[in-house]
Amino acid sequence: MHMAKSEKELPERELPLISALKKTRDRHSFHMPANRGGQSFSEEFRTLLTQFDTTELDINGDINQPDGVVLQALELAAKTFGAAQSYFITSGTTNSLRIALAAAFNAGDRVLVAKGSHLSIANSFALLGLEAVFIKQDTLPRFPDGQVSEIEVLRSLREEQDISGVILTTPGYYGENLPLEHICQAAHAKNISVIIDAAHGAHYAIKLSENSLQEKSWPRTALSQGADLVAQSAHKTLPALTPASLLHLSEEAKDTGRISTSRLAKMMPVFQTSSPSFPIAASLDYARDFVDHDAAGQVAELMENISEFESQLPPEIHRDFRDGDDPCRLVLDYTATMSSRQNVCAILNAHKVDVELVDARRIVCIPALDTPRSSFIALAQSCVEIAAGGGSEQTQTGIDIAQRSAFLRQNSSSLSLRDSFYAESREFSFEKAKGQLSAGIIAPYPPGVPLLWPGEEIKAADIALWKDLLSLAYEIRGIKSGKIEVLTGR
Ligand SMILES: Cc1ncc(COP(=O)(O)O)c(C=O)c1O
Repeated sequence: MHMAKSEKELPERELPLISALKKTRDRHSFHMPANRGGQSFSEEFRTLLTQFDTTELDINGDINQPDGVVLQALELAAKTFGAAQSYFITSGTTNSLRIALAAAFNAGDRVLVAKGSHLSIANSFALLGLEAVFIKQDTLPRFPDGQVSEIEVLRSLREEQDISGVILTTPGYYGENLPLEHICQAAHAKNISVIIDAAHGAHYAIKLSENSLQEKSWPRTALSQGADLVAQSAHKTLPALTPASLLHLSEEAKDTGRISTSRLAKMMPVFQTSSPSFPIAASLDYARDFVDHDAAGQVAELMENISEFESQLPPEIHRDFRDGDDPCRLVLDYTATMSSRQNVCAILNAHKVDVELVDARRIVCIPALDTPRSSFIALAQSCVEIAAGGGSEQTQTGIDIAQRSAFLRQNSSSLSLRDSFYAESREFSFEKAKGQLSAGIIAPYPPGVPLLWPGEEIKAADIALWKDLLSLAYEIRGIKSGKIEVLTGR
């Protein structure tokens, strides 16, 4: 058969998504996934990936019913990540968390949760019929992802009655870590389980050599601090395909029966597709091997690149980093530049630098462990230009404080979360929605952390904040063309 060379190439026809994706190459990536468009993988593995797209053959087994080689890969992962059992979830931490919640709790259970949890948690609570008991917050969170403090969690654990468990997020989007040891002890003393959304913390399992500079300050994993179930997005911080996720069960949760292993196993095929992706699962095997053998050296290189980068920052921009934060996350505070958010985004784009998020004061970068020096140079050059540019009469500090304050407003609802989620709703101008009950989640995206959960009453301060965020060209999930969904009957 005649096979023209062009038959192996993409046809020059209308392929809108493929054409757009092709344009994402040759840019400086400071966002997830941490495989840098596949460049972090070995050449052999990159080539093999598409060939690995297969079904549950005898030779490779079934991800959802682990035995044989699948079980072998999971056991190796459990050892690396410090778990009694680990699972490969090929449909994201969104699904790992849903599986964890479904395994640990029953419909109607009261579960402690921070209002500033990823929208996948809010959606799962609604789907599973769990009652969200917000952790009472009275201290302004450090960042606009609304992380709770250890004191606030411990207080809620003491004060709230009839709680079946707690779900917490650490690290946060900005690399802030919540110490878990005392929280886990307090929860376990009440015989309730602790589930951790560690979507951003898969790399904490990397073991640095004992005399390396970073070893002492390297963050501890949630499992090592006593958490029962931990979900991690491998694709966010390790070389793995999107959306490769790991779900880990702790030794203690297994031994005490606090989490039923049979119920956990039963939930896998309930929430995973019956055709889980082998390329994604294989990339989890790859990421685990990388953690075991190559990651420590790359962390050392990344730290060198970061410290050189920091030395090149203009005085108006500083890295927001405190002891205990994730050393791999770069949060750059541009408040003193008086630059508008739009101006920051435009300059980054002009330098072909793609970051994870720009908020009213900060640029959040997720470097891969092997992000090249040339990308850090492009980021530093962007920062110099941002510092020179100005572009705004005043800082956006007020908007930032308003965004962080939203987590202190926890509006109770007469309807359950599930009832609010499924109740009839109607479209409503958000600017006139004061006093209405929100039918959906309202969440700036990224990071996808709800400012309002379904059923919460909309206050004047909420509307003012959304207006401000929209004026900074934020995308807000739940608001479209100035409209939101509110519950009918008000
Ligand atoms: C804190 C947090 N939890 C959960 C998720 C969901 O993870 P995934 O995208 O792997 O489904 C995200 C995604 O950004 C996240 O930031």
